[in-house]
Amino acid sequence: MRPGNHKRFVDVMPDEVARPGINPYVLAHREFGEEIVPGSEAPAFLGRWHELFGREAPLHLEVGSGNGFYLSGMAEKHPECNWVGVELRFKRVVLVAKKLRMAGQTNARIVRFDARALDKLFLPHSLAGIHVNHPDPWERESKRHHRLIDREFAELCTRLAAPGAELRLKTDFGPHIKALVKACEGLPWELVGTRTDVDAQGVLWDDDVVTNYQRKARERGAPVHAVLLRRTASGMSIPSAAPPDPQPLEQPSSSSD
Ligand SMILES: C[S@@+](CC[C@H](N)C(=O)[O-])C[C@H]1O[C@@H](n2cnc3c(N)ncnc32)[C@H](O)[C@@H]1O
Repeated sequence: MRPGNHKRFVDVMPDEVARPGINPYVLAHREFGEEIVPGSEAPAFLGRWHELFGREAPLHLEVGSGNGFYLSGMAEKHPECNWVGVELRFKRVVLVAKKLRMAGQTNARIVRFDARALDKLFLPHSLAGIHVNHPDPWERESKRHHRLIDREFAELCTRLAAPGAELRLKTDFGPHIKALVKACEGLPWELVGTRTDVDAQGVLWDDDVVTNYQRKARERGAPVHAVLLRRTASGMSIPSAAPPDPQPLEQPSSSSD
């Protein structure tokens, strides 16, 4: 993803896909049912997620839900909260939705959307928690501009988080932890703590769910790091990011699944 390109997200409609058979999930994610909110429909819920869930409740966001273990697990642990996951890849969106349906969860939805454009989905200070698990590392230096964890993302989270909201990050890519802490410098976040190995040290919260990538990291013996920040009440008005760049959104090479 190129710098300055982050706020643009245009949903792909099935009839705009050149070879629909290549990725049947483009159509499938639209036909699945109420667990999935397609990207073209999601901005209509700005400030109205409680209507979708049929109740007012603290709203939590998971960024990059992958296969949905965390979203589904947390929705089960916290029936008193409304949960929204955002995920770019069509197939993963469907996998998450299947988990939600299997578990009969009505307090969670998966939205096909770009985490860089979250302010199209959520009002300022509307999120009670932001959960990020194993964001793509983009390890090569030449690809680091694709990394989600940067100042722009920190400012976005700052605008959307309610006072007292938690920003949680788990990752097997250690540099993401330092990057988030640095990106939040000067912003109204209190650093609660960091971990370099959650299996040895425990996580910084008491309601964790092991994710797919976390399990994979464990299997290859890689430590999972974590950081917890808490939104303070000061600095409530963070200026909006720059207007969108006209360049098309660049997605991870395998984002069609
Ligand atoms: C490494 S996987 C981790 C998946 C899951 N959170 C886990 O821990 O198992 C990263 C996920 O983030 C998604 N992703 C990457 N960039 C994204 C973006 N800008 N907006 C939404 N999801 C994104 C990817 O499609 C992928 O499913």
